[in-house]
Amino acid sequence: MAEKVVLKIKKKEIELPVITGSEKEKGIDISKLRASTGGYTTYDVGYKNTGATTSAITFLDGEKGILRYRGYPIEQLAEKSSFLEVAYLLIYGELPTKTQFTDFTGSISKHTLVHEDIRKFLDNYPERTHPMGQLSAMICSLAAFYPDSLDVNRGEEEVNDTVIRLLAKLPTLVSWIYKRSQGHPVIYPDNSLGYVENFLKMFFGYPTEEYKVDPIIAKAMQKLLILHADHEQNCSTSTVRIVGSSHAPLYAAISAGISALWGPRHGGANQSVIEMLQNIQSDGGDYKKWIEKAKDKKDPFRLMGFGHRVYKNFDPRAKIIKKASDDVLKKLGINDPLLDIAKNLERITLKDDYFVSRKLYPNVDFYSGIIYKAIGFPTEMFTVLFALGRLPGWIAQWKEMMTEKQPIGRPRQIYTGQTERKYAPISKRKK
Ligand code: CMC
Repeated sequence: MAEKVVLKIKKKEIELPVITGSEKEKGIDISKLRASTGGYTTYDVGYKNTGATTSAITFLDGEKGILRYRGYPIEQLAEKSSFLEVAYLLIYGELPTKTQFTDFTGSISKHTLVHEDIRKFLDNYPERTHPMGQLSAMICSLAAFYPDSLDVNRGEEEVNDTVIRLLAKLPTLVSWIYKRSQGHPVIYPDNSLGYVENFLKMFFGYPTEEYKVDPIIAKAMQKLLILHADHEQNCSTSTVRIVGSSHAPLYAAISAGISALWGPRHGGANQSVIEMLQNIQSDGGDYKKWIEKAKDKKDPFRLMGFGHRVYKNFDPRAKIIKKASDDVLKKLGINDPLLDIAKNLERITLKDDYFVSRKLYPNVDFYSGIIYKAIGFPTEMFTVLFALGRLPGWIAQWKEMMTEKQPIGRPRQIYTGQTERKYAPISKRKK
C-alpha cells in the first residue's frame, strides 16, 4: 500500500501522499495542502526541508558523503572521464557513444568564437570590476546576439544550438575577461585543441609566443571541472530553475545562476578561502586564533570552505581535491605555505567539538583554490572557474525543468507586516 502521512489541523485529518525516490529518499507531497486545509502553507526559510522538484540528474547523500551524476560515482568520473564527456552525460542522460561524442565536441569547436561587439563591451568595464559581474552580464548579453533564443516554443534542435553555444563560448568569455582586466590582447580560440587545452591557451597564452599546454595542469583542470559540474538543487541551480521557469531565455537563466554563485556562502567561497589563508599567514600564521574566532558567536568570521547545507560528513569532492592538490603541487615543484595552514586548520577542526558537533567538514572550496593558485589563476578568477565547471549542470537542470513543463517557481510567504491602515498626507505625518 502506498505510504501516506496524516496531518491533523484542529479536528480535521488530512492524508498526504509520500513520494519515494530511486534511492529510497522520501518526501511528503504537499502540492494539495492549501486546497485541502483552507489556506495553510508551509514555512521553511532557506528551504532546509523543502524538495522543490524530483530530478534524475544528480544523487547526493550528505550523511554518507555520496555524490553521483546519473548514477556514476563522482570518484570514477573524476578519475576516468573528461569534462565534456561528463557534460554530455549530465545534459543528455547517458555517456556518449564514440559518434555522439565526436559530433558533440565537433559542434562545440564550431561555436567557440564570440561576437566582436562582446569584446568591445569588455573594453569598457572599469579596471577593478569583479569577473563574476562581467561574466553574468556577458552571458545575458548573448541573448541579444541570438534573438531566436527568446522563443520559448522553439524546437529541440534550436534549444540544443543554445546549449552548444553556451558550452563553446564560456571558456572564450572567461579568458577574455581576464585578458582585458590585465590590459592584454585577447587570444582567439584554437579549435585544433581540446576544450580544456584551448581554455588554458586563451587564458595564459600571448599572441607573441607559442603556448605549450602542460599535461599536468590540463589533467588537474579536467578533474576540477568534473567535480564542479553539478550538485543538485543548490542556490545557483535553484536560481537557474526559477528564472527559467518564468520562460526567460536560457542565457538569462544561466546569467542569474552565475550571479547566485558569486556569493561567498556559495561558489565565492573558493576566493574567500585563499583570502582567509593569506590573512592568517600575514597575521603570523596563528591558525588556532582564527579557529577560535570562527567559534566565537559575537565574531562574524566563519572558517571559509567549512560546512555545507547538505554534507554532514566529508564532502566527497573535497577528498578528491585534497589529494589532487598534493599531487599537482608535488609535480609542479611548488611548496605553498598556505597548504600547510589549510592542513592545520583541517587537522584541528576535525577534533574540535564545535566543528564535530555541528558536522562542519572542509567542503569543495577548501582545497580547490590551492590548485587554482598553483596553476597560476588569480584569486578573483576562482569563482569564474567554478561557473565554467557548473555550466553543464545548470543546463541539464534547466532542460529537465523545461521538458517536464514545470510551473513557474513562486513560493508563498507568511505576511508579518502592518494590517490595513489609512493613507495620511505628508503634512499630517508624525515626525
Ligand atoms: N565556520 C564556523 N561556524 C560555522 C560555519 C563555518 N564555516 N558554517 C556553519 N557554522 C555554524 C553556524 O554558525 C551554525 O552554528 P549554530 O548552530 O551554533 O548557530 C551551524 O554551524 C549551522 O550553520 P548554518 O549557517 O545554519 O548552516 P547552513 O546550512 O545554513 O549554511 C553554509 C551552510 C555553507 C552557508 C555555511 O556552512 C557557511 O557559511 N560556510 C562557509 C562558506 C562556505 O564555505 N561555502 C561554500 C559551500 S560549498 C560550495 C557550494 O556548493 O556552494
